[in-house]
Amino acid sequence: MSSVVSRETSTPTPPSPSLVGYSSRSQEEWPRPARRRVITIANQKGGVGKTTTAVNLAAALSMHNQRVLVIDLDPQGNASTALSIEHRGDVPSVYQVLIEGMPLAEIVKPVPDMPNLYCAPATINLAGAEIELVSMVARESRLLKAINEFKEIELDYIFIDCPPSLGLLTVNAMVAAAEVLIPIQCEYYALEGLSQLLQNVELVRAHLNPKLSVSTALLTMYDGRTRLAAQVAEDVRAHFGDTVLRTVIPRSVRVSEAPSYGQSVITYDPGSSGAMAYADAAREIAFRGASVTG
Ligand SMILES: Nc1ncnc2c1ncn2[C@@H]1O[C@H](COP(=O)(O)OP(=O)(O)O)[C@@H](O)[C@H]1O
Ligand SMILES: [Mg+2]
Repeated sequence: MSSVVSRETSTPTPPSPSLVGYSSRSQEEWPRPARRRVITIANQKGGVGKTTTAVNLAAALSMHNQRVLVIDLDPQGNASTALSIEHRGDVPSVYQVLIEGMPLAEIVKPVPDMPNLYCAPATINLAGAEIELVSMVARESRLLKAINEFKEIELDYIFIDCPPSLGLLTVNAMVAAAEVLIPIQCEYYALEGLSQLLQNVELVRAHLNPKLSVSTALLTMYDGRTRLAAQVAEDVRAHFGDTVLRTVIPRSVRVSEAPSYGQSVITYDPGSSGAMAYADAAREIAFRGASVTG
């Protein structure tokens, strides 16, 4: 009895401070870009968080009334899997778009239960496209053409999830975008290989797409318990300056579990540290971009 009384008279337990921040922010209006933003997520290293970043930024933005398309450009099709989009061998995919000139509209699918989110799936035959493209006309700009001809949905964002290489698929992604986002895993070899990536961005800018720039770097899989992660983060900020988002994505089991449920972590466990970090990162991108034109 006394416990009931004390429960009624005591002030209710407030939710944890981080959740307060999340729920009040989740109601905030995010600005829609004046023009559609095409963001290529690239890093030729595998396992640095490209796909995770593409899927979760896209999900977070779509939940703030942005219309978002994820183009899966990795033959592994991990982004398609994470968004519950069918990508068996015979499903029309980015392969048909790049190699056969199929309109993007014929392969774009709405993501289940995510009203503003769409996905263009990748199938395993995309692995062969890297070679097949070599002898094709306008081989570097086939994705750009497909995107420019896509008028069916008025999109605010397109995220292109690249394979872990700097071949023609990644070049197509860089030609199709104005922005490159580089996920950088907070581990020892983080900066290794980045100069090659930046050199490729430079080459594409010089020869194929003058609008291209590295707009964003995102620190991923940060383990706050290690001195190494903090050191890597410091080095990356020294090197990339304001390009690096203030938000850092922590290593979180929830983030790695979500894809096996065909979900982003934002929907799988919205209160988890990984979900909140990706929502914060998406928010930074939306607000930064408000001042960006072109
Ligand atoms: N913040 C994170 N915390 C825990 N695991 C993560 C996190 N980000 C990515 N992962 C996991 O690390 C692996 C590589 O990530 P992924 O996004 O597929 O990298 P990439 O696309 O660059 O190859 C995946 O198994 C993914 O679930
Ligand atoms: Mg990937």
